[in-house]
Amino acid sequence: MGFLSKYADRIGVDLASRRIGIDLGTANILIYERGRGIVVDEPAVVALSNRDNTVLAVGREARDMLGRTPSNISVIRPMRDGVIADYIITEAMLQYFIQRVIGRINVVRPEVIVCVPAGVTSVERRAVREAAEQAGARRPAHLLPEPIAAAIGARIPIDSARGNMIVDIGGGRCEAAVISMYGIVSSESVRIAGDKFDEAIVSHLKRKYNLVIGERTAEDLKIKIGCALPLERELSVEIKGRDQVTGLPRSMTVTSSDVAKALHDPLLTIIQTVRSVLEQTPPELASDVIDQGIVLTGGGALLRSVDVLLAEETGLPVHVADNPLQTVAIGAGIAADHWEQLRHQVPVDEEAIDSFSRATWARSSRTSGSRSSPAEQGPGRCSGSRPRISIEGAHAARSARS
Ligand SMILES: Nc1ncnc2c1ncn2[C@@H]1O[C@H](COP(=O)(O)OP(=O)(O)OP(=O)(O)O)[C@@H](O)[C@H]1O
Ligand SMILES: [Mg+2]
Repeated sequence: MGFLSKYADRIGVDLASRRIGIDLGTANILIYERGRGIVVDEPAVVALSNRDNTVLAVGREARDMLGRTPSNISVIRPMRDGVIADYIITEAMLQYFIQRVIGRINVVRPEVIVCVPAGVTSVERRAVREAAEQAGARRPAHLLPEPIAAAIGARIPIDSARGNMIVDIGGGRCEAAVISMYGIVSSESVRIAGDKFDEAIVSHLKRKYNLVIGERTAEDLKIKIGCALPLERELSVEIKGRDQVTGLPRSMTVTSSDVAKALHDPLLTIIQTVRSVLEQTPPELASDVIDQGIVLTGGGALLRSVDVLLAEETGLPVHVADNPLQTVAIGAGIAADHWEQLRHQVPVDEEAIDSFSRATWARSSRTSGSRSSPAEQGPGRCSGSRPRISIEGAHAARSARS
């Protein structure tokens, strides 16, 4: 090995084990490398030539082509609703970014920790692991539930016996989870998040103003003037689209209250999801959540006044994480840094998460006839198996304690 490593050094080949954490999101892919921090932060988009299926561009460059390509080029988002929608393209995208981080020549494959939503099926989790392994990760690639990564990234002490609630509003999925002692106590996940916000804006403008816009324009609008509640000082922006009646291009001014109206229904679903998780949480932990508040992560946390809306609707304090778009990746990176200790505490491998969910399902279906399947339910450790309380009940538990 001595000779080998000297030779490898001379030709610039790295023999040391590299460890990376990946947030493979619907909208963005982020990679954190141990010792280097975030080394990839790009849109999860791939541009393909239709003639021979070769990859033309990946990440930001491919995203800039969205909606602007001739018929011989397809621009694809291989992830949908937090899971792999196109396996081959996801693998190609992962391979491209992993190679960009660790280089093309590697004697030792990197150890990879990929974050997966808590509420996905075992088949969907296995697909992520296999895609990472095919893309160059050392076998087995490890899987880390996203709410745990988000909590670590938000510097929440997940080892303590206190309940902490994380709500991640990403591009494809909103996931709410209560975490205590390295585990997910209760969680729920809905396929309503940033993409659905954009779709809601598209259909609102079509319905109200007969104006047809693309999803890129809707996303820009959401980021520039979007809000969950009407703003004190209304914002407005001029946008261009196609008139549905005349078929001709038209521009018009859209206001922030237009966007707030468009987002009403998807936001309502998110609020219901958060309330439902609180209702499944054991009283003591729910009362911790009242003290600690909810931590919001994911790009959707940047929507103006979404924290205020959630606080009003739950009666709990809500904090937006410092860097919500990067929280999960930072958490995956910290997990990579402390992997030796963490891997024994959290359900990290696909089989572990799987048996974890199966056990949960068996327990919860025995006790409560819970409405979600094990796959839908994810690794919620005891949702349904402990006394259920409402948000109001949580407040009562807290006042009784203090
Ligand atoms: N300032 C902003 N206001 C509102 N939404 C925003 C803002 N910035 C980004 N977003 C939205 O956040 C979403 C991307 O967030 P994020 O990167 O957390 O998602 P993801 O991790 O890729 O998706 P998922 O976790 O659902 O798989 C996009 O829908 C984007 O439009
Ligand atoms: Mg995400």
